[in-house]
Amino acid sequence: MATRRLGIVMNGVTGRMGLNQHLVRSIVAIRQQGGVTLPNGDKVMPDPILVGRNAEKIAALAKQYGIERYTTDLDKAVNDKNDEVFFDAATTQMRADLLMQAIAAGKHVYCEKPIADTMEKAMAAAKAAKAKGIKNGVVQDKLFLPGLRKIKLLNDAGFFGKILSVRGEFGYWVFEGDWGQPAQRPSWNYKLAEGGGIILDMLCHWRYVLDNLFGNVEAVSCLGATHIPTRVDENGKTYKADADDAAYATFQLAGGVIAHMNSSWCVRVQRDDLVTFQVDGTHGSAVAGLTKCVTQSRVNTPRPVWNPDVPQTMKFAEQWEEVPDNIVYENGFKIQWEDFIRHVCADTPWKHDLVEGIKGVQLAELGLKSWKERRWLDVPAIKI
Ligand SMILES: NC(=O)c1ccc[n+]([C@@H]2O[C@H](COP(=O)([O-])OP(=O)(O)OC[C@H]3O[C@@H](n4cnc5c(N)ncnc54)[C@H](O)[C@@H]3O)[C@@H](O)[C@H]2O)c1
Repeated sequence: MATRRLGIVMNGVTGRMGLNQHLVRSIVAIRQQGGVTLPNGDKVMPDPILVGRNAEKIAALAKQYGIERYTTDLDKAVNDKNDEVFFDAATTQMRADLLMQAIAAGKHVYCEKPIADTMEKAMAAAKAAKAKGIKNGVVQDKLFLPGLRKIKLLNDAGFFGKILSVRGEFGYWVFEGDWGQPAQRPSWNYKLAEGGGIILDMLCHWRYVLDNLFGNVEAVSCLGATHIPTRVDENGKTYKADADDAAYATFQLAGGVIAHMNSSWCVRVQRDDLVTFQVDGTHGSAVAGLTKCVTQSRVNTPRPVWNPDVPQTMKFAEQWEEVPDNIVYENGFKIQWEDFIRHVCADTPWKHDLVEGIKGVQLAELGLKSWKERRWLDVPAIKI
């Protein structure tokens, strides 16, 4: 059994996602477990170089997590032939240009969603990756959530019968930052000029979730809103929040399933998790959060009777049965990193490529257009 090194240029690791999910929960964890095992039994040990604008910050991070290499020179890192992979989790707006630069340098590329802030740039990146023949991928972490994996299990087992509808609630209250409670998300999320907006942020997730679990998205109708027009940023400065902070979107899927997703940073949580999906089918229904999933089958369905004159006696939440944790669910970002590393080093199958990434940007763009034009829009197939 041999162990080979894989050099990975990691950009944006001082950010929320880059640090927590990609560096700590994925690459550091993979290094601690002794690398990624390939189908032939060989191991791959990721050897990251951390890239950041602030030398002190990036040096401190490298030291904290036992990483030898770090730099503030992105161009040099991207052009270093000793590193094969470029990864980006920095700002959405710069992503497509960075991908283009890394692809031109012959790197395999992997990145956070969305892969670009416009369809045009997303298409260009995927085309360039195809022309150069490099491996490429986008994070599609929600597919690896235990809650959604349980929904997939139920569907594969035929539990739902014919699926009729999917309704999703995503969101929580993001503090405005103005009365002693700092906001728990970066301010760029609420500024259009900086790539913010919940439609761009979340519709790319809903695209791959719906496509992969319930049927390809064929049409969209989306109503956005900017409920909170003024917020206070990380430095205590008041700014105009001009990006959409809520989206109410309906989707028609291949096979006739109707899906509706509410996404909001202006909603207080009265449900079991920050995101929940309810799937109703002819033979059974399920509700999944990030980890937990409960079911109600056709034969266990109670018979409520509508009567506004008497208080409700049924305890609806108690009428559902939990899907057990029969397996250990690892961090989804780490699973996807391991799959990508195997794909790069052993050419194993991989479906989360930049073309899948384009689809997310496409749905976000169509969602924005639908809102602006107040109408349903079809979702055309992507050809690159
Ligand atoms: N997969 C998911 O569930 C998920 C969740 C949240 C965010 N994201 C995506 O991850 C990306 C980062 O989001 P975040 O919430 O971690 O943001 P963040 O603001 O916490 O981090 C942004 C990172 O980009 C860097 N950066 C910002 N401006 C820069 C510039 N001008 N030049 C170079 N670097 C710059 C910052 O230093 C930081 O490392 C976004 O594209 C977002 O869409 C994905």
